[in-house]
Amino acid sequence: MILPVFLYGSPVLRKVAKDIPEDYPGLDQFIDSLFETMYQSDGIGLAAPQVGKSIRVFVIDASPLEDEDPSVKDFKKVFINPRILSCEGETDVYNEGCLSIPDIREDVERKSAIRISYCNRDFQYREEYYKGIAARIIQHEYDHLEGKLFTDHISPLKKRLLKNKLTSISKGKVDVKYSVKHI
Ligand code: NI
Repeated sequence: MILPVFLYGSPVLRKVAKDIPEDYPGLDQFIDSLFETMYQSDGIGLAAPQVGKSIRVFVIDASPLEDEDPSVKDFKKVFINPRILSCEGETDVYNEGCLSIPDIREDVERKSAIRISYCNRDFQYREEYYKGIAARIIQHEYDHLEGKLFTDHISPLKKRLLKNKLTSISKGKVDVKYSVKHI
């Protein structure tokens, strides 16, 4: 089922999301809906709070970025109850966007590698190391579970320049092909 994407300004995007139990009602269907909604809106990642559910789940399919980074060719995954264990390596800059903040892209600094624990779709516990684009996307989606958005990482000056645009988005004034919701 395709779900509406909550826009910047929606309180659910600012909540710290909660872990879920293995028998969380409708989890399998919800994960399918996250993927469907992500594909329909041409996203490469989508976190549960972005569709109004404050639970620790996000999905990623980075295969559209294969040209940029061949290592993400088959990077399609569900992360349940994730915890970033450490951020490592250099600080990288990458131009990020977000389905909840349409038409804004900004350079964001993040660490180039991470270690993360999570449960997969079968609720098996995993600990993994990621670097490059994969680490970048995971950190962006993980931020959503912590109530953070990529605009929180930009300088106060840049943020001030975006203020009017962000206010418009929070009022639902966006021109996108996917279904959105504000508040
Ligand atoms: Ni996002």
